[in-house]
Amino acid sequence: MSSATLIGNWKHTVLYLTLIISLVYFIETLISHKLHINHTNIRFKRSPNLPLRFRDDGTFKILQVADMHYGVGSITRCRDVVDAEFDYCSDLNTTRFLRRMIEAERPDLIAFTGDNIFGSSTTDAAESLVQAIGPAIEYGIPWAAVLGNHDQESTLNRQELMTFLSLMDFSVSQINPLVGDDDDQSALRLIDGFGNYRLRVHGAPGSVLSNSTVFDLLFLDSGDRETVQGRRTYGWIKDSQLRWLQDSTRQGHRQSIAGNPPALAFFHIPILEVRDLWYTPFIGQFQEGVSCSVVQSGVLNTFVSMGNAKAAFIGHDHVNDLCGNLKGVWFCYGGGFGYHAYGRPNWHRRARVIEARLGKGRDTLTGVERIKTWKRLDDEDLSKIDDQVLWEASYTFLK
Ligand SMILES: *[C@@H]1O[C@H](CO)[C@@H](O)[C@H](O)[C@H]1NC(C)=O
Ligand SMILES: *[C@@H]1O[C@H](CO)[C@@H](O)[C@H](O)[C@H]1NC(C)=O
Repeated sequence: MSSATLIGNWKHTVLYLTLIISLVYFIETLISHKLHINHTNIRFKRSPNLPLRFRDDGTFKILQVADMHYGVGSITRCRDVVDAEFDYCSDLNTTRFLRRMIEAERPDLIAFTGDNIFGSSTTDAAESLVQAIGPAIEYGIPWAAVLGNHDQESTLNRQELMTFLSLMDFSVSQINPLVGDDDDQSALRLIDGFGNYRLRVHGAPGSVLSNSTVFDLLFLDSGDRETVQGRRTYGWIKDSQLRWLQDSTRQGHRQSIAGNPPALAFFHIPILEVRDLWYTPFIGQFQEGVSCSVVQSGVLNTFVSMGNAKAAFIGHDHVNDLCGNLKGVWFCYGGGFGYHAYGRPNWHRRARVIEARLGKGRDTLTGVERIKTWKRLDDEDLSKIDDQVLWEASYTFLK
């Protein structure tokens, strides 16, 4: 072959390659947007920094939001407001209240304790939840939710709701734990309900307990409605859930160098014994009967036997906002938060705040020393009321 023929072939090859590359590039630019699902880029959940931990100043603050009863936003009317307020009142007032609470308290965690949405007032449960929870995500605050008895009355069932809630931005909600005998996955048991989980809060950064659980937060599914011996009643926390609580508390105790840290529980429907608080010196208002299951569940006895359960935060009865003590465990209502929920005209929507504070050792912050709670009203000044201490450590930590 002559050198002239060789150069000719080489020129053809270059031309040919250029043509192919141009074609591929042209096709790619033409159809590339079709390679993405729904023409948008796939987006991952934005997660908060984990584990949850106390601040440098030794505090950890939780905002409890009970019974938002969210519908679809601006066209969902308020209930039980005075006539003069009715015309300009909607779900957006609930949103506004949540933003104000976040601005005022700057919580480290928000606990939504059920009836977050009012199923029968929305045709899209997911959309309603996105709007209801919205401010928590806007401010990038970790949040945890459980279900009430109204959340599933729309387009998602309880399992789907908890799945969705666990996938939303900044959520630390979980569907359910894997339950087994220690690490033996074959011993996996099922727990009743959806949204039973434990969040462990670590000590302050740089302190001796910075890698240890010093505060335990327990979330439980109290169900929706059930029929017991032909009688319609509310759901309750089942034996399987209580067994999980006890087992995981025992396990946590074995693994923890800080001993059994104080624990708080969050769920929606009160237990039967909350009725007995009427005869005790409670703090706050007891304005309606306790609506709960007729079944006496073992919740109170379980909390007592765990030893570290200091308080439970509930919702469901919107115009009760009291805290009372049963056998050494506090039961506190959040008080109705949402404007589409029933309430009382001239009785402000409200929210509860819980603050835990670490003790100060000689040169380091230690474990939880005190747990306080108070409420704020959605009035002009976000008035702070019913400030009380729930628990104080009666021992000294590592001093
Ligand atoms: C609801 O929000 C509107 C608009 O911000 C406000 O004018 C109205 O007073 C609020 N209503 C209540 C009951 O808070
Ligand atoms: C906590 O864990 C980090 C990272 O593993 C380590 O650097 C630090 O020394 C630990 N702190 C304590 C008090 O154990």
